[in-house]
Amino acid sequence: MNYKIALIRGDGIGPEVVSEAVGVLEAVGQRFGHCFTYEDVLLGGCATDAIGKSYPDGTAETCKSCDAVLLGAVGGPKWGSDKPAEQRPETALLAIRKDLGLYANLRPASLRPPLADACPLKKETAQKGIDLMMVRELTGGIYFGKRDKYQTEDRGVEATDLMAYSELEIERIGRRAFELARLRRKKVTSVDKANVLETSRLWRSVMHRLAEEYTDVEYEDVLVDNCAMQLVRDPAQFDVVVTENMFGDILSDEASMITGSIGLLPSASIGDAVPGLYEPIHGSAPDIAGQDKANPIATILSTAMMMRYSFHLPDEASAIEKAVDAVLAEGWRTADIAESGVTPIGTKEMGRLIRAKVLA
Ligand code: IPM
Ligand code: MG
Repeated sequence: MNYKIALIRGDGIGPEVVSEAVGVLEAVGQRFGHCFTYEDVLLGGCATDAIGKSYPDGTAETCKSCDAVLLGAVGGPKWGSDKPAEQRPETALLAIRKDLGLYANLRPASLRPPLADACPLKKETAQKGIDLMMVRELTGGIYFGKRDKYQTEDRGVEATDLMAYSELEIERIGRRAFELARLRRKKVTSVDKANVLETSRLWRSVMHRLAEEYTDVEYEDVLVDNCAMQLVRDPAQFDVVVTENMFGDILSDEASMITGSIGLLPSASIGDAVPGLYEPIHGSAPDIAGQDKANPIATILSTAMMMRYSFHLPDEASAIEKAVDAVLAEGWRTADIAESGVTPIGTKEMGRLIRAKVLA
């Protein structure tokens, strides 16, 4: 089969990690007889530098002409919050999510066996394992609500961000969560703040309706503050965790941290139409950009998610995941995950080793 992939290499370490991921895709193509072609798409701080805005016209159209999008990382201090919105990389990221209809953000957080020692939690807790899937609503809520900033008479300047959710938005992300749970350990935890927020009460009522439909899936509600606590107390209790946009942003960082290796975690953003967008969870790490130090594994594992969720190629996905595990099991580490006394390898070498395992 032929698949066309849009490449957003982006800023900082983005280009380096995308190059290694493309190398792994080539190895997968060779082993399984697929042809991957690529189209470079300019987005983020590098686009601001090149043409003055972070989200060039036509970006969404170019991406829509492809079967999937692979994104390295965008952002950096050079294009900070003091810059106008159209120059900030974050603006482009939110715009592409919205324009491609990518309402479901899947962020798996699991403890890979060779790296169990990297888990910062108590040994007894880590031993129970971590294997959860954070399902974050990605195109609604406070991220996309109306914003305002105005002068008041007696309280100085005031600012507002509106958080809105519709039944439609909640139901479609909820269904994704239940469907995913059916393929996993059949448990959904829905996270909200229903003791305070009206949007959360609506969220909860829609989730309860779905829970009655998916009777084979265990269901629970957890308040967001409690969830933050449970993630460090006993993360093994979670299978699929579904939540709104901002709670998901915060909890997914926490979930990745407890695995001790944010450099390893991939993500998928999908909607009802093609293409899905795949990217590592980590940022652009400008401090180590261009030095062959970045860990390409999260981006490589993002291509495995691409195989699974966009191309429906589970064997290809597990070939990539097995290759990564095999390289880690042999003790190879990039600097971010190297235990003391282990000499780290570079970005390119890590990519080469994983490619070789895919082909082995
Ligand atoms: C993420 C990031 C983005 C978000 C930022 C960069 C806008 O933190 O993907 O989690 O908040 O969604
Ligand atoms: Mg975030």
